[in-house]
Amino acid sequence: MKRFALVNVLLACVTFSFSAQAADKKIERLYGSKCGSCHGKDGKAQTEKGKKMAMRDLASEDFQKVSDADMTKAINDGLKKEKDGVKQEMDGYKEEIKAPEVEALVKYMREFKK
Ligand code: HEC
Repeated sequence: MKRFALVNVLLACVTFSFSAQAADKKIERLYGSKCGSCHGKDGKAQTEKGKKMAMRDLASEDFQKVSDADMTKAINDGLKKEKDGVKQEMDGYKEEIKAPEVEALVKYMREFKK
């Protein structure tokens, strides 16, 4: 009986880590398809739009000091600002990306931190 319980616990752990990995992949794909064109798949913003809009590297301190709340707001509502005379624009995603995924995207962007 004890052994049975142990096997069950082990199985639960394996299943859990597989589904966590699947969720990570999903967010990575979402980031790649919706955000990578500007922010870059590697987060460095060395894309055509990233360079044109003088965007920050996600790993930079300057980007990482943005709070979770401000990141969430930017993803939901988009942003429009100007840096050294360069217009910076991003559309909001609240119509197409659900709240739990927005939260996961914020976490994903934190992973670029050096
Ligand atoms: C059309 C290009 C473009 C796309 C696509 C884009 N962004 Fe942005 N994003 C920008 C620009 C421009 C800025 C402001 C400059 C900077 O932060 O380097 C920005 C800034 C941000 C910020 C920082 C907000 C702040 O308050 O400083 C976050 C977080 C962010 N983007 C997340 C995302 C996520 C997540 C996606 C995909 C769902 C995405 N962006 C897609 C252009 C884009």
